Amino acid sequence: MKILIIGADGQLGSDLCKVIPQEEQIPLTIKDLDITNQEQTVAVLKKHQPDIVINTAAYNDVDQAEEKPELALAINADGVKSLAEACQQIGAVLVHISTDYVFDGANKEPYLETDNPNPQSAYATSKLLGEQWIKGLLDKYFIIRSTGLYGAAGCLGKGGTNFVENMIMLASSRPVLNVVADEVLSPTYTRDLAEKIVELIKTEKYGLYHLVNQGQCSWYEFACKIFEFLGRQVTINKITAAEYKAKAKRPKYSVLENAALKKIGLQDLRSWPEALKAYLEAKGYLGKA
Ligand SMILES: NC(=O)c1ccc[n+]([C@@H]2O[C@H](COP(=O)([O-])OP(=O)(O)OC[C@H]3O[C@@H](n4cnc5c(N)ncnc54)[C@H](OP(=O)(O)O)[C@@H]3O)[C@@H](O)[C@H]2O)c1
Repeated sequence: MKILIIGADGQLGSDLCKVIPQEEQIPLTIKDLDITNQEQTVAVLKKHQPDIVINTAAYNDVDQAEEKPELALAINADGVKSLAEACQQIGAVLVHISTDYVFDGANKEPYLETDNPNPQSAYATSKLLGEQWIKGLLDKYFIIRSTGLYGAAGCLGKGGTNFVENMIMLASSRPVLNVVADEVLSPTYTRDLAEKIVELIKTEKYGLYHLVNQGQCSWYEFACKIFEFLGRQVTINKITAAEYKAKAKRPKYSVLENAALKKIGLQDLRSWPEALKAYLEAKGYLGKA
């Protein structure tokens, strides 16, 4: 079994490299393969002849994508199309990571894989197009939607950081943190996601899956939990998304239900607070004075 990992130095990619046996993996960074280069994509896949291609590469800067929608489309839609075509040519399974932002957030209960997407931003539109290319071109694929990712490597597309690290850093320089309380999600630890992806692809039960740590919280509640685990007194103000004034519109509610995963009999991921605690432990934050 040969598994080619695209975006291997990213937040999720680096955790996939930790959980996939070394002799099975072909880790590639953008220096080895830029998925916006169609010829290179075909050539690299033909050279390595992987059984499975896992694509974690994306244009991830949700706000910047409003200014540069063509860049988001080039990577998240056209790049994914090239990858799907190359997988078709060599007969490889494509595993692709998508996002909760394909939904508009009008739901009051967790989104199922069967719910209709309705993207509200340039980033979300480009990610949905990527999904559609895969569905149109391939039979053997896994499209995996997740939300609010954080992992040891930090999100390269967001300056090598993530929400947890941002909160910890800001708390050391600001007396009060203002955190959005009217957007609800399921924060997900990339280590847990990587482990579940590996388990899922072994089943060969292809299709669309939601994979998130269980439960839900607002960004505000997420921030409170971080400092509760750290045992630190930090003043956190609830603000609205409108007050935060991000350029891109985000869903108010983008909690995902891992319905398809449970349907095929695989165990659900642990709860988001358990996962957060594990992340803080792994990063060496717990037990510090
Ligand atoms: N982060 C989140 O909160 C979140 C939430 C839901 C879904 N997702 C999805 O989850 C996936 C993984 O996210 P992540 O947080 O692990 O992102 P990340 O840390 O930014 O990793 C993405 C990787 O892709 C590489 N890359 C970017 N453009 C590329 C290109 N044209 N060709 C090849 N490689 C390229 C990046 O390299 P460089 O940085 O060197 O360019 C980086 O190694 C993405 O598909 C994202 O859309 C993320």
